[in-house]
Amino acid sequence: MNANEMMREGRFLDKDLLGEHRPPSERVDCEQVRFHDFYQASTSKDLLEKCGRFYGYLYDAKQKHQYLYRRTLYRGSSARVVVFDVRAQREREMIMMASNSYLDLTTDPRVVRAADEAQRRYGYGSGGVALLSGTYEVHRKLEATIAECYGREDAVVFPTGYAANLGTLQALLSPGDLAILDMYSHASLVDGTQLAGVTTKYFRHNDVQHLEELCRRLRSRFNGVLIAVDGVFSMDGDVCPLPDLSRVAKENGARLLIDEAHAIGTIGPRGLGTEDRFGMIGAADIIAGTLSKAPGGLGGYVAGSHELVEYLRHFARSHIFSTSLPPPVAAGLIEAFHIIRTDEPLRQRLGENARYFARELQAAGFETGPTQTPIVPLILGDELLARRMTHDLHEEGIFASAVVYPAVARTGARVRFSVMATHTREDLDYVISTVKRLRVRYASGE
Ligand SMILES: Cc1ncc(COP(=O)(O)O)c(C=O)c1O
Repeated sequence: MNANEMMREGRFLDKDLLGEHRPPSERVDCEQVRFHDFYQASTSKDLLEKCGRFYGYLYDAKQKHQYLYRRTLYRGSSARVVVFDVRAQREREMIMMASNSYLDLTTDPRVVRAADEAQRRYGYGSGGVALLSGTYEVHRKLEATIAECYGREDAVVFPTGYAANLGTLQALLSPGDLAILDMYSHASLVDGTQLAGVTTKYFRHNDVQHLEELCRRLRSRFNGVLIAVDGVFSMDGDVCPLPDLSRVAKENGARLLIDEAHAIGTIGPRGLGTEDRFGMIGAADIIAGTLSKAPGGLGGYVAGSHELVEYLRHFARSHIFSTSLPPPVAAGLIEAFHIIRTDEPLRQRLGENARYFARELQAAGFETGPTQTPIVPLILGDELLARRMTHDLHEEGIFASAVVYPAVARTGARVRFSVMATHTREDLDYVISTVKRLRVRYASGE
C-alpha cells in the first residue's frame, strides 16, 4: 500500500514520515559529520543551541533518506515486520534482524492471550507505584516466577531494565564504596554508578587478570566493593567469565552483580541465563535483568535474598517513585517465563539459527567478534560504512540497525544483527547472501 492508500485505511502517517519536516535554520551535511560529534560539550550560552545544530543534521539525513532510526512498524514485531519506507512512501514487508525478542514472544499467541485476559480483568494500567497502590496479584506472581527461575528467595520488578540497574546501584552504593565494571557493561550500570556518586573503575573487557589487579590495588581504600557486568554483552554477544568473576569477588570481599538482560531465555541448558550456562546457580550476589528482550514485554528485575530484595523495594528510587508495570504486561510475562522454561524446541531453534548465521558469516570472512549468542555483530569500524550498509540492507528488505558511538567505541561501528527462533533458513540465507553481495559492490568502489 502506498501512503495515500494507507491513510484512506486510517493508518497514521505524520509529517515526518511524509517527508514534510520543517526546514532548520542551518542545514548540516550529514555525510560530513559523525553522530559522536554531537557528544562534545557545548560552550554556547544558549542551552538549546545544540538542538538546532542537531536538527540541521537530522534534516539533511532525512532529506537524503539516510536516516534509518525510528523506522515505523505497522504490525507486531516478529521475524517479518511491516515497515513504512520513507523513500518509496509505501509500506513493505521486511525480514526483522534487529529485534531483541529472540524467542518471538512479543507476538506469541500464548503470551498475547494471557495479556488479553489480564486486561479484561484489571484494565490496562496499574494506577500507582508498587509500594502505595500498584501491587497486583500478577506482580507478586511475576516476582515469584523470576525468583524461582534463578533459584533465589525473592525478586522485585522495576518499570524497565534500565531502571532496575539505576535503582539498584543508587540504593546499594554510597560515596566511599567502589564500583568496578567491565568496560563494555551496559549504560544503565554506568549511569547507576554516577547517580550513586561512587568511585568507578573499569576493567578491560572480560579480562579477569585486569579485574584482579584493580581489586588488589584498590580494595583496602574503599568500604564496599561491587563488581558489575553483563551476563551476555549487548553489542558483541559474548558471555562473561562467571567462574572467575565469582572467585575474584569472593577473594576480595566484593559483591557480584550480573545483568541478565540478553542472557535470560538465550543461554543455559534450561534457558535460564548465565548461572545456568555455567552450572553455577547462586554464584552472583545480585541478579538484575530486563523483561523486554527474550521475555518480550517490558520491565526490569532484581533477584536475590529476601534482605536484598526487600531493601530495594523500599530504597531503590526508580522503584519507589515510578508506577508499576501494567497488569496485562505482567500477566504476559508470567506466560513468557513459562514458555522459556518449557518450550525447549523453541529455544533449540534459536540456538541453531544463531550458530548457523554466525558460522556462515565467519566462513565468508566477516568480522563478527567473539559472539556466542543470537547477537551477531558485523563489525565494520567506520560509522559511515555501517550507516551505508544498514541503508543498503533496508533497500533489500532487511531491517538491521547501525550501532555507533556511544553504544560502541568510535572505531567499533557495526551493523548489529539479532537472530530469532522464528527466522527460517531462507531468511538467514537471504541476509547472508545480501551482505556478501554488498561487500563485492563496495570493493568495486560502486
Ligand atoms: C545489558 C542491558 N542491560 C539493561 C538494559 C535496559 O533494559 P530495558 O530496555 O528494559 O530498559 C539493556 C537494554 O537495552 C541491556 O542491553
